[in-house]
Amino acid sequence: MLRSVRYCGVIVVLVTATAGVAFATPRLSELFHGGDAPVSVGGVPRGLTSVDSQSCSSCHAEIAAEWRSSLHAQSFRDEVFQASYAVEPSAFCRNCHAPLMQAGEREPDANAIAEGVSCAVCHVREEHVLGAHMPDPSAPHASMRLAQMTSSEFCAGCHQFNFPTSNVHRGDLATTSEPMQNTYRE
Ligand code: HEC
Ligand code: HEC
Ligand code: HEC
Ligand code: HEC
Repeated sequence: MLRSVRYCGVIVVLVTATAGVAFATPRLSELFHGGDAPVSVGGVPRGLTSVDSQSCSSCHAEIAAEWRSSLHAQSFRDEVFQASYAVEPSAFCRNCHAPLMQAGEREPDANAIAEGVSCAVCHVREEHVLGAHMPDPSAPHASMRLAQMTSSEFCAGCHQFNFPTSNVHRGDLATTSEPMQNTYRE
């Protein structure tokens, strides 16, 4: 008798807990789509007015300065990329080097070009800021923990991929089984 009461108690707790969670922590495999599709970061987390890197930088100045001088911020504007993109201007390249571009557009807009691999590309999904640790109560924004952010696997979605097939110019985003970049496995 006691056991079944306890059992019921567990069920009730579980049901309540799931009903209260409106946003599920995204799975790692859902975060990045490499060359297949751009990234959709979703709505603005509660407590923020924008997900632009500029808006994060007002509070995270040091991290923002580091990011601004990195190749992530330059991922589409970078001259070396532009030189090679001029030869092979495909959606495959844009989806990863300008991941905030609008799906279906032929070129990234000014925002996607300026933002590159922005703060939000790595940190915003499901209207929450994703962090590696339990959210700090002093954070003014809705946050949730994504434990895999401490692991190298988090980076593999863009740093491990295969060559596209020769049909990229026709919009075919299929890939071969030959790695174009093998950074994560290496
Ligand atoms: C109004 C100030 C403010 C803005 C704007 C802001 N943050 Fe925060 N954020 C904080 C504070 C305060 C903390 C908690 C202390 C800390 O980790 O620096 C925090 C914590 C975090 C954390 C650690 C996880 C957590 O919640 O504890 C991440 C990741 C983060 N912010 C990312 C961002 C990103 C990305 C943006 C822009 C989309 C952003 N923040 C905008 C103030 C801000
Ligand atoms: C390429 C992905 C990526 C980009 C771009 C990025 N971050 Fe992060 N960030 C991470 C990861 C991964 C961690 C977790 C590191 C750890 O704790 O192991 C992190 C940690 C943080 C933290 C937690 C505090 C800390 O120092 O660990 C804050 C705050 C943060 N980032 C803010 C930002 C802001 C603001 C931007 C843009 C200016 C930004 N990040 C851009 C991946 C990224
Ligand atoms: C799945 C993501 C992804 C796709 C798709 C992709 N790249 Fe990249 N690219 C990267 C990453 C990650 C790096 C950084 C590699 C490193 O240095 O470890 C990079 C680096 C580069 C560089 C060197 C930039 C520099 O400053 O040294 C060039 C050039 C480049 N990519 C061109 C392209 C072109 C052209 C395409 C399309 C045919 C393309 N990339 C498709 C992710 C991608
Ligand atoms: C949304 C895709 C994306 C994600 C996620 C991502 N990167 Fe990148 N990363 C890129 C692209 C694209 C470049 C190349 C930019 C260029 O040179 O044009 C790059 C470049 C870099 C570079 C510069 C390489 C060089 O040759 O100087 C480093 C370092 C790097 N990434 C580290 C990381 C780490 C660490 C993570 C995980 C925390 C990560 N990246 C996650 C897309 C991504």
